[in-house]
Amino acid sequence: MGRVEKESEGKSFFEKVWTLVLHRGFIIPTAEIYGGIAGIYDFGPLGTLLAKKLVDLWRRFFVIGETNFPVYEINGSTILPYEVLVASGHVDSFVDPIVTCLKCKARMRADHLVEEALEIRVEGATVEELTRIIRENGLRCPNCGGDLSEVSLFNLMFKTEVGPLGGKTAFLRPETAQVIFIDFKKVFQVMRGKLPFGIAQIGKAYRNEISPRQGLIRLREFTQMEIEVFINPKEVNNHPGIEEVADSKFRILMRENQLKGGGAVEVTVREAVEKGIVPNAYMAYYLSKETEFFERIGIPRSKFYFRHMMPEETPFYSGGNFDLEVELSIGVKEVVGNAYRTDYDLRSHMKHSGEDLSVDVDGEKVVPEVVEPSFGVERIIYCILEHCYREDDGRGWSWFQFPPEIAPVTALILPLMKKEPLVSKAKELFKAARRSGIFVEYDDRGSIGKRYARADEIGVPVCVTVDYQTINDGTVTLRSRDTRKQVRVKAELVPKLLLDLSEGRMSLSDLEALQG
Ligand code: GAP
Repeated sequence: MGRVEKESEGKSFFEKVWTLVLHRGFIIPTAEIYGGIAGIYDFGPLGTLLAKKLVDLWRRFFVIGETNFPVYEINGSTILPYEVLVASGHVDSFVDPIVTCLKCKARMRADHLVEEALEIRVEGATVEELTRIIRENGLRCPNCGGDLSEVSLFNLMFKTEVGPLGGKTAFLRPETAQVIFIDFKKVFQVMRGKLPFGIAQIGKAYRNEISPRQGLIRLREFTQMEIEVFINPKEVNNHPGIEEVADSKFRILMRENQLKGGGAVEVTVREAVEKGIVPNAYMAYYLSKETEFFERIGIPRSKFYFRHMMPEETPFYSGGNFDLEVELSIGVKEVVGNAYRTDYDLRSHMKHSGEDLSVDVDGEKVVPEVVEPSFGVERIIYCILEHCYREDDGRGWSWFQFPPEIAPVTALILPLMKKEPLVSKAKELFKAARRSGIFVEYDDRGSIGKRYARADEIGVPVCVTVDYQTINDGTVTLRSRDTRKQVRVKAELVPKLLLDLSEGRMSLSDLEALQG
């Protein structure tokens, strides 16, 4: 039994995954040597590679791969002036209900406290209602049993000042979306835009969450991948690529099933649009594309669905919100928010800035409507870690079954023994693979079994071993992580095979089927 297995004994599934994640340094608590800071984490080398591959795949899928209409990526500032966030509604409404323990002074989300203690949903409840529920049910501080204060509202934005000594009030952006709205007209003009037109952005967002928790799920600094698709309001059901996905299916948890306690059902894109299950063709298109994407990153289709948010959870201006929710050992979590934001944001920025953000469509001034898919990188990374985690299946250690396209390290190249000419031959292969742009590692320390164990633990799909037969006939062994099956192939084919594997043109089972 390895060290991680010993550390994991008697732990919950979440704790087991999190132990391995911390042990291998995928994630490092920020300022750990100073005791850490709640809700803020660093990505270590393997976490950085995993996140980079996820983001690259997302970009290939939703930005470069979008051929039905242009989608341009921008990279905006993370500091936004006060006025922008007044216009977006964040200054007034980006709040969560907070309650304080009068004894130990702990502060917590009042709605979470009530939901966990009484197992009821209180989404949309006012501060007065929450205070009443707490009082009527005699709820006390879960940490020390102390009395609780009245519930109040807490704004989640990080406030700052730009300029010295009483400079201008500004905020760290709470979502990447607002930068897209305020830059929309400029980007549309410089790229000679035509509706429909998408702007994407990948970057940091900041929320001063009251009780950050569950590792990567509720953070104070996190990364969003968002797209705002600007659409002619008269054309919301006229998506240029809808026929490509018309028969694709996705799972949806409809409002009536949430009320009745029913589960998610599978629908086709065509059905969803024709029956009005979703508000428009753009929404259906994204729900089907996201289904394909999530399966590709290793989340089984049976483990996620889109939940039509209930009216009390939906902003007043929204034409419909559909959260992609993933089943995890710590409960069901929202990892992507899909919103039909209508023309609310553009109109609001027009009103507050005095700028005309309409565009010309055949001589007519049009304020576009917006459909927004909004992904959270860290939550998705946690879903990948949990859904790809495999407990010891007889090999003596737990491991990660990452899809090769997003595996942090594509292959480990190793000489059977730390002896010449095996070492030189293995290093030659390592350099050739790195020159082809594939992230492989070289390892000649410890027994071959220990090296396989480390490779499995960090989810390396293939181990390439150089042995004495390599010197005689130029072949190497490829060991598949999933089945531990080995095949021999010519060493010169290795860089190309690994490239195909890491770019999704080949699967591990294709590789296992190779002969000589
Ligand atoms: N522009 C829309 C928007 O920001 P959201 O539902 O508030 O919508 C979108 O956020 C996604 O961002 C969520 O589905 C989640 O993946 C991620 N996210 C939001 N708050 C987060 C937090 N405190 N920690 C980690 N990820 C978060």
